[in-house]
Amino acid sequence: MSPKKFSPHIIIAIDGHSSCGKSTLARQLARKLNFTYIDSGAMYRAVTLAAIRENIVDGIEIDELRLNILLQGLTIKFAYNSSKLRQEIYINNENVEEEIRDIEVSDSVSIISKSKMVRENLVSLQRKMSKNKRIVMDGRDIGTVVFPEAELKIFMTANEEVRAQRRFMEMKEKGSDIKLESVQKNIHYRDFIDQTRDESPLRQAPDAIVLDNSELTIEESLNWVMNLLLERFPVE
Ligand code: DC
Repeated sequence: MSPKKFSPHIIIAIDGHSSCGKSTLARQLARKLNFTYIDSGAMYRAVTLAAIRENIVDGIEIDELRLNILLQGLTIKFAYNSSKLRQEIYINNENVEEEIRDIEVSDSVSIISKSKMVRENLVSLQRKMSKNKRIVMDGRDIGTVVFPEAELKIFMTANEEVRAQRRFMEMKEKGSDIKLESVQKNIHYRDFIDQTRDESPLRQAPDAIVLDNSELTIEESLNWVMNLLLERFPVE
């Protein structure tokens, strides 16, 4: 498929449940199509990390006033790491790509993501980052709130146990000594908060197409999306 057939500013929105491989799929898709990839979850994680460092988040409590001040002084950007062939996230020019994946951040990110102020701030940044670009963006509200006009919307899911097992293996490979049970609890909790929060809850957009990848490999999921793109944007 040639990206030339797409309109200049096409957006592919990938939303769905936690740890179902959205980022992996979105990154590979962007690479294949030569689009820019934006990991919106990394942005919520980056704000969470900054808030943890400043003791702004404590269990289920957030100090909204101090969070507001923090947000005003926080610069979030992505830069391409050519040796790792991926976009990496920076806060105030510090690369935090690895640190934002720690379990401490995963445990607090849902609370930070519930904040209307944080969401407005990040949605505005996501739109700014995407201006005049061809984008693949993954998250929870991309097809419903950030880009309701996206040309292609995919809602990804997978069986909860499969997701926990995959995430557990991924963390173990990175040297983590985390227990499977903690990963399971975290995924279940994040899904619950994502789906029940007042601000931009996780919902399948009416025009999104569901991809359940419980029994698919990454390659099979990627082929599935590429076939979908061929159907939607046939090569003349
Ligand atoms: O995609 P992820 O698991 O790295 O995202 C981390 C958290 O950020 C997730 O638990 C919910 C939140 N999030 C969100 O609320 N809206 C988005 N667009 C992306 C992520």
